[in-house]
Amino acid sequence: MTSITLRRPDDMHLHLRDGAMLEAVLPESARHFARAIVMPNLVPPVVTAAQAAAYRDRILAALPEGMAFEPLMTLYLTETTDPEDVAAAAAGGLVRAVKLYPAGATTNSQSGVRDFDRVCGVLERMAAIGLPLCVHGEVTDPAVDIFDREAVFIDRVLDPVRRATPGLRVVLEHVTTAEGVAYVQEGGDTLAGTITTHHLILNRNHILAGGIRPHDYCLPVAKRETHRLALRAAAVSGDPRFFLGTDSAPHPDPLKEHACGCAGCFTATNTMALLAHVFEEEGALGRLEGFTSLNGAAFYRLAPNEGRIALERTGEPARWPEKITTGAGPVTVFNPGFPVYWQVKD
Ligand code: DOR
Ligand code: ZN
Repeated sequence: MTSITLRRPDDMHLHLRDGAMLEAVLPESARHFARAIVMPNLVPPVVTAAQAAAYRDRILAALPEGMAFEPLMTLYLTETTDPEDVAAAAAGGLVRAVKLYPAGATTNSQSGVRDFDRVCGVLERMAAIGLPLCVHGEVTDPAVDIFDREAVFIDRVLDPVRRATPGLRVVLEHVTTAEGVAYVQEGGDTLAGTITTHHLILNRNHILAGGIRPHDYCLPVAKRETHRLALRAAAVSGDPRFFLGTDSAPHPDPLKEHACGCAGCFTATNTMALLAHVFEEEGALGRLEGFTSLNGAAFYRLAPNEGRIALERTGEPARWPEKITTGAGPVTVFNPGFPVYWQVKD
């Protein structure tokens, strides 16, 4: 196949940040994606409907003339989140999901949840109205090895929360393990999982063998090769429970190339080309549209986008900028470490 046309894709997990960083990274997503589920882990976090409305307005104000993009807003779940505020924001269509960060799990998660008993009222309300809970699925217990934190979270937290809240619709975000894949596959129609582009490409050797590569470090951290293969199999399977959420997460280079570097891979710029490469490798180009443009929309009860995007196979390796310039400093674009012979047709 030398070209493929897809419904315009949706990124069901994206970090757009704010201010100067937002201005620089938004066009990188809007160039290819029609919509994105926008993460609320700003400083301070997007906790209330009023904050989500103001953040949506800042995103739309930062969108360059002539670009179309619909931010799908989320609220950051805290132990004091008001179920009424959540329900009102969802009823008006402002908010499409609530995000659960276990406190301390990742970037700007200090205001997240420590005691899950304190959020059961909000979760019950969300189950009643069908509003999805997006979950960062890692325990923060320092006694648990970082490579086990997703699997332990499923047993200790996610499964008990789902059993205690029948009907709660959940997206297990950025699945990184075979255990996560299996849990989503067995979860029935109230559970889905997003998969990032970089977790289809990286295993932990890429981060650590032959030198430490800070731009490949994200959370949940990439696991061993068997897990990467399980993620690939799930992504290309056609199972509607799995869809793209890039978790594209920009940090300025000085904060990545640091003694205690930030977590996040910036993949907005080259995600679609990389996915065409991965799906072609798996002999599954015909299933790419489901993964990027249909399955996520269906789970979020949205119509698929009307627009189209075309990808073409190239004779020479595709090129993209090594870094993008932002008012907050340079941001390195994810480097897969191999040549890619696909690009989005402009
Ligand atoms: O790698 C990550 N970066 N994982 C997250 O969960 C958060 C994100 C960020 O905001 O930088
Ligand atoms: Zn994220």
